[in-house]
Amino acid sequence: MTQEQGPVAVDDARSREVLGLAWGAVAHFAEMLADQGELRGLIGPRELPRLWTRHVLNSAVVARFLPEEGSLADVGSGAGLPGVVLAAMRPELEVHLIEPMERRVSWLLEVREELDLDNVEIHHCRAEELHGKLRVSAVTARAVAALDKLARMTMPLVEPGGVLLAQKGRRAEDEVAQAERVLARLGGDQVTVHQIDLLGDGEVTRVVKVHRA
Ligand SMILES: C[S@@+](CC[C@H](N)C(=O)[O-])C[C@H]1O[C@@H](n2cnc3c(N)ncnc32)[C@H](O)[C@@H]1O
Repeated sequence: MTQEQGPVAVDDARSREVLGLAWGAVAHFAEMLADQGELRGLIGPRELPRLWTRHVLNSAVVARFLPEEGSLADVGSGAGLPGVVLAAMRPELEVHLIEPMERRVSWLLEVREELDLDNVEIHHCRAEELHGKLRVSAVTARAVAALDKLARMTMPLVEPGGVLLAQKGRRAEDEVAQAERVLARLGGDQVTVHQIDLLGDGEVTRVVKVHRA
C-alpha cells in the first residue's frame, strides 16, 4: 500500500507555510494514516492519493478561526480530522477529541502517544453525553452531520462568546438557511460562511462559523 504510493506528506512551501512548526508531526500523522487508515476503516482507498491535500491540509484551514487561547473540542474526530492536525498546530490549546466508535478511539489513543500530543484528551462517547459537563471556546466538526443536527449536538458544548466551526461542502449556504432557527434557539447570534482556496487550485473549503452569544 504505502510502497506503491511513496511519501504522503508533501514538503512544499505552501504546506510549510500552512502548518508552520507542526509540519513534522502532521507529516508523521499523514504517514500513519496512509499506512493504516484503509485497513482500519478510517479512510476510503480512493481518498489515499489526496490524503495530504484534501484531508490533512484541508483540516488545517480551520486553525485561522481558532481563539488565541482556551480549549477546543473536535466532535466526531474519526481518523483525527481535523482534531489531531489542530492539536499539533496549536499546542497551547487544550484539545478534546470526541468519538463514540471504539476502534476509532483506539486509533486516536495510538496517534496521541506516537505524536506525543500532551494537550489532547480523548472522550469515548457521543457529543450529547458531554452536554452540561464540557464547555469549550471552540468546537470543530468535519463531515459529521447536517448543520441543523450538528448544532443540536455541538452548541451546548460552546461557552458563551465561543464559536462552532463546521467544515462543510458545496451546500454550506443551504445548510445555514435550513439551520437558521435552531442555531438562533441555541444561542448562535452571528453565522458566517468562509470560503478558502487553500492551494489556489479552485478547490474551495467552506467553514461555517457560528458565534455563541
Ligand atoms: C464521516 S466521519 C468523519 C470523521 C472525521 N471528522 C473526518 O473528517 O474524517 C463522522 C464521525 O462522527 C462520529 N459521530 C457520529 N455521531 C456522533 C456524535 N453524536 N457525537 C460524536 N461523534 C459522532 C462517527 O463515529 C464518525 O467517526
